[in-house]
Amino acid sequence: MSKIEAVTVRLLAADDYEALIALWQRAGLSHRPGGRDSREAILQQLKDGGVAIVGAKLEGKLIGAVVVSDDGRKGWINRLAVDPAHRRHGLGGRLIRAAEEELRGRGLSIFAALSEARNEASLRLFEREGYATLDGVVYLSKRKSLDV
Ligand SMILES: CC(C)(COP(=O)(O)OP(=O)(O)OC[C@H]1O[C@@H](n2cnc3c(N)ncnc32)[C@H](O)[C@@H]1OP(=O)(O)O)[C@@H](O)C(=O)NCCC(=O)NCCS
Repeated sequence: MSKIEAVTVRLLAADDYEALIALWQRAGLSHRPGGRDSREAILQQLKDGGVAIVGAKLEGKLIGAVVVSDDGRKGWINRLAVDPAHRRHGLGGRLIRAAEEELRGRGLSIFAALSEARNEASLRLFEREGYATLDGVVYLSKRKSLDV
């Protein structure tokens, strides 16, 4: 069995929080410690049930994760991250499919993701998983500060 076949993909729990933040840092994803990414905020999101986090572990170490959220109409696939040491082995795709399975289980059939336009790896990966960029759609957001 190759190393990547030994990876287990499961929902994460509260005690995976530190490993999740460490993974985001290794993967180069920004992290807002005072806002919605704080331990308290993430644990509350998991408790409320609107958010689930799917993680990929190899020999107990978290090497990939994706945040799944459900607004009742659409399922959002956020903060997909794969450890740089384990990229291009299909893990990103596997995590997207696991996120979709979680969302289907919640009765959703429309899946959406946001990506920076210059993030070629992310765009190629989502396209390969069947996602299309919607022509003419612009992401609008209103927030008090960029820290939340
Ligand atoms: C984007 C990311 C999750 C991809 O993870 P991964 O495990 O390497 O992805 P996969 O192995 O499943 O890639 C599947 C396909 O996606 C495309 N792809 C992935 N990385 C790519 C890259 N760097 N450049 C171009 N295409 C890429 C390829 O088509 C690839 O298939 P191939 O390896 O047979 O060519 C990973 O690069 C990452 O964590 N990046 C930093 C965080 C980030 O940008 N997340 C996205 C936020 S929206």
